[in-house]
Amino acid sequence: MGDLTGKVAVITGAGRGLGREEAIQLAQQGARVVINDINRPEAVDAAQSAAEEIKGFGGDAMVILGDCADSNDAENLMKSTLDAYGDLNIMVNNAGFCRDKTIFGMSDDEFDSVVRVHLRGHFVNMRNVTAYWRDKAKAGEDVYGRLISTSSEAAIYGSAGQPNYASAKAGIIAMTMGAAQLLIKYGITCNVIMPRALTDMTATGQTAEMFQAPADGSFHAFDPANVAPLVGYLASPEAGKISGEVMVVWGNEVAVLERPSLADAIVNPKGAKKWAVDDLHAALATQYDDNYVSVWGGYSVPPT
Ligand SMILES: NC(=O)c1ccc[n+]([C@@H]2O[C@H](COP(=O)([O-])OP(=O)(O)OC[C@H]3O[C@@H](n4cnc5c(N)ncnc54)[C@H](O)[C@@H]3O)[C@@H](O)[C@H]2O)c1
Repeated sequence: MGDLTGKVAVITGAGRGLGREEAIQLAQQGARVVINDINRPEAVDAAQSAAEEIKGFGGDAMVILGDCADSNDAENLMKSTLDAYGDLNIMVNNAGFCRDKTIFGMSDDEFDSVVRVHLRGHFVNMRNVTAYWRDKAKAGEDVYGRLISTSSEAAIYGSAGQPNYASAKAGIIAMTMGAAQLLIKYGITCNVIMPRALTDMTATGQTAEMFQAPADGSFHAFDPANVAPLVGYLASPEAGKISGEVMVVWGNEVAVLERPSLADAIVNPKGAKKWAVDDLHAALATQYDDNYVSVWGGYSVPPT
């Protein structure tokens, strides 16, 4: 079950945090693993130590450095992976960082840099790998393809202190769903995870206390290692039918997001014509009565 022997996996941002655990998981299942991280001293050390850890248990890993959102670096990631391992079967887009601020105070750079690393970071790698898989399929070759994207619950609930991050994470879902629609005919699956874990990203600020390990040594629900088995499963042959799904994962839980659906349409009682504002009010006001609570919220990083 879950055997990935002979498969090749690329994980972006895999030196630390969730990506590192996912790389270890995929290697434990037998995949040859490419650890990508940014070319900065601490990230390089982390990436190399992740690869050493994998080699330490007899796994196969290599490091390819580069910015996940840079087109040249992404092209190099694909090419170097193919040169070294001869194929690419599992693409886990994971890398990213946060620059939290409210919408009132966010600079252009805080917005652009976070959208770039997450949304563009997914885009360039998703484009490259899906083009590779599609070309192989069109050439009549066997293709084993698994695309796993990393979103966040911020995308569905909003996050008052993270307008940049929440927007990027929502875009990732939309982009992955489109890829899933295109690629299912080749037997390639594309899914999205929404993790919760204690990592450098969540170890400071408002989430820090909530995510700490229990002092009594009992199960640490926010250990990033708890997220990795789902990535290993979605990458596996057994998950070949599962595509176009969004899964919240942490601790000992996996919750599948219900597929979006529209409530019954309210039709203009005046017939096939454009709504008048007072008719719209009459039709909608009953739904937004005294019991209605404006603005719903869920799992949200509070504003700083
Ligand atoms: N930790 C959580 O609770 C949580 C919740 C929801 C979503 N996520 C998502 O999970 C993913 C992993 O986050 P994490 O919590 O492990 O954070 P982390 O900070 O521990 O790890 C992020 C990794 O990405 C790397 N990285 C940053 N910019 C990069 C770039 N331009 N190119 C290549 N690598 C780069 C970092 O060096 C680091 O190794 C992110 O996409 C994050 O948004 C995390």
